[in-house]
Amino acid sequence: MEPFAYVQNRLHAEGVPLAAVAERYGTPAYVYSRGAILENFRRLEVGLAGAPSLVCYSVKANSNLRILSLLREAGAGFDIVSGGELARVGRAGAAPDRVVFSGVGKTADEMDAALAAGLLMFNVESDGELELIEARAAAAGKTAPIAIRVNPDVEAETHPYISTGRFIHKFGVPKDAALSLYRLAARSKNLRVRGIACHIGSQILQIEPFLKALDEILEVAAGLSAEGIEIEWLDLGGGYGIRYRNEEPIEMTRLIAELKRRIAGAPYRLILEPGRAIVGNAGILLTRVLYVKRNGQKKFIVVDSGMNDLLRPALYGSEHQVWPVIQRPGPAASADVVGPLCETGDFLARDRELAPLQPGDLLAVMTTGAYGFALSSNYNSRPRPAEVLVSGTETEVIRARERLESLMSGETT
Ligand code: LLP
Repeated sequence: MEPFAYVQNRLHAEGVPLAAVAERYGTPAYVYSRGAILENFRRLEVGLAGAPSLVCYSVKANSNLRILSLLREAGAGFDIVSGGELARVGRAGAAPDRVVFSGVGKTADEMDAALAAGLLMFNVESDGELELIEARAAAAGKTAPIAIRVNPDVEAETHPYISTGRFIHKFGVPKDAALSLYRLAARSKNLRVRGIACHIGSQILQIEPFLKALDEILEVAAGLSAEGIEIEWLDLGGGYGIRYRNEEPIEMTRLIAELKRRIAGAPYRLILEPGRAIVGNAGILLTRVLYVKRNGQKKFIVVDSGMNDLLRPALYGSEHQVWPVIQRPGPAASADVVGPLCETGDFLARDRELAPLQPGDLLAVMTTGAYGFALSSNYNSRPRPAEVLVSGTETEVIRARERLESLMSGETT
């Protein structure tokens, strides 16, 4: 399905005109298509059919409770990275044994909460972390299920800030170190070896790095098996790239077919941790033009949403398409779409050819369902936008626009 498309020059989210969403709920607002989220998830499930596997949606991409519930109902597990995300998936009704806990900096408190919940496994990223998990499990009289996150030293072409699979990155441990950690874990009565994990980066558009990473962890699994340490789960992480402008998105069916082929006949079960591939194209940021101004030759469209709502352009130089909510004829001209914040980096798009716009017009910043709201902040004391879920012709506020009182809650004067 095309979740966002023009019908008679008016941009719709599924069956709802976005102008009506703005009218009803105000701007800025993130608007998501329920159908697109489910379709993205189901496509993975269908591709994986026949291979024992679990799709653990990466909560960090978009952690709205309603979206988590939707995915839980559809059969997803979850990949979490904090006590906060653990609380969220719990609130969304996730079965704990379908949740994996990743991250390089788990605290003792977070481990205790995860041990109490009884998760599928901790993806452990260092010797220090393994030691602490063992100690916390011993203190609680429990056995902690673990995987070691292997850093496969695989190059994945993507933005340097979201590449994770080389030794220069803080993530995971090299293969040799992983083997020693597994031996330690296998000897401990408070640790239970369950899997191997890796995650090589995000917004990756080629298939080969994933296959290389799988080969690396399969080799570790075989080495362990030779020592009598059996691995159940191969967690390949997330990072599957999508189309923002003209990228060729990763062909998930081809990738999954290759993965299945490589593990066919082996006793392993596969975990994938997609975030962006499930929610990325299912969301837009709806914003209203406040002013149109010129500084010399340069034209600026000042909108009511900025880098506090959508940080990706400022942080990664990422390019989201900007579509007018109502298409009007007229000569296109180059302009920057900028927010109201006092930062030169506060732009949503630069040097874009846009049809004539005037104050009051609405724009949709496309493909912002992943790492959009999730990276938002209150910088410049701006309340976070509303989040709205569209399903067919129905709309539902799934997070109310933040109020000024809650902006200041917890502070003293
Ligand atoms: N698993 C692990 C262990 C991860 O660290 C991540 C993302 C994922 C899964 C999900 O990756 P995805 O399928 O969504 O690419 N803020 C950046 C992306 C940071 C990704 C961090 N880790 C952005 O806006 O592009």
